[in-house]
Amino acid sequence: MVNPGTGRLRADAVTLGYDRKTVSTGLSVTIPDDSFTVVVGPNACGKSTLLRSLARLLRPSAGDVVLDGESIHRIATKEVARRVGLLPQSALAPEGITVGDLVARGRYPHQNLFRQQTEADREAVAAAMAATHVADLAEVPVDELSGGQRQRVWVAMALAQQTGILLLDEPTTFLDIAHQIELLDLFAGLHRDGATLVAVLHDLNHAARYATHLVVMKGGEVVAQGDPGEVVTADLVEDVFGLPCLVIPDPLSGTPLVIPRGTAHPAP
Ligand SMILES: Nc1ncnc2c1ncn2[C@@H]1O[C@H](COP(=O)(O)OP(=O)(O)OP(=O)(O)O)[C@@H](O)[C@H]1O
Ligand SMILES: [Mg+2]
Repeated sequence: MVNPGTGRLRADAVTLGYDRKTVSTGLSVTIPDDSFTVVVGPNACGKSTLLRSLARLLRPSAGDVVLDGESIHRIATKEVARRVGLLPQSALAPEGITVGDLVARGRYPHQNLFRQQTEADREAVAAAMAATHVADLAEVPVDELSGGQRQRVWVAMALAQQTGILLLDEPTTFLDIAHQIELLDLFAGLHRDGATLVAVLHDLNHAARYATHLVVMKGGEVVAQGDPGEVVTADLVEDVFGLPCLVIPDPLSGTPLVIPRGTAHPAP
């Protein structure tokens, strides 16, 4: 059982938003060390905004994001990138770049100004491409890939960065079901090997199965968090998503399995 009280990375009473819009006010979230934390919540509730602040891409207007006991905004960009990796929800690749070159960019935080590749860089890139099954695509321009292939290339780039903390914003979007599970299994393996992961997922059943710590957001706030087996109930799903459903134990994993009712199967 992870202890949500301690963590290398946390948001302390942060107010987050954009020019004319406040998304979260006084939000506090601690990422438990060594956890596979999954963030769920309806569209536009502030999940990506939170992740971007945890990766130092968005500065809170109040409160602070703390990494290893220090305000993340006091730590140099490159140093943050050696400790925290982010797979953004929608990333744009430079035009014409090949898969191999894009994945290699994950090594920039580890390189000097001249970007000379070391053996460690080459090994990290090769391992990341093998793990995500994109090695055969190394010479192909990223523009020519399918949505799912492209997603796996971005994951490879994040893996090549080899950070202890990895933030993944909807890493399984665009993937077919087999590739979704394969990627979640890959993340579970990284977690077992000691990485701290934070992933935004829309599939509650995947979230319940893979998360060691679940964070449920609604309207810019955390409304529930903890062990998915305790957090995911029919009442919570109805309250957060407005979706009547049945929650039963997943016959394989025993974790909560959410079965939406829809209009065809109303509650008795
Ligand atoms: N760059 C931006 N400028 C202005 N408003 C933004 C920007 N990005 C997001 N927002 C707004 O902030 C709110 C939270 O957005 P956010 O992207 O964090 O939601 P989300 O929970 O990740 O949603 P989704 O599940 O659709 O990805 C939304 O109302 C959105 O319209
Ligand atoms: Mg989002």
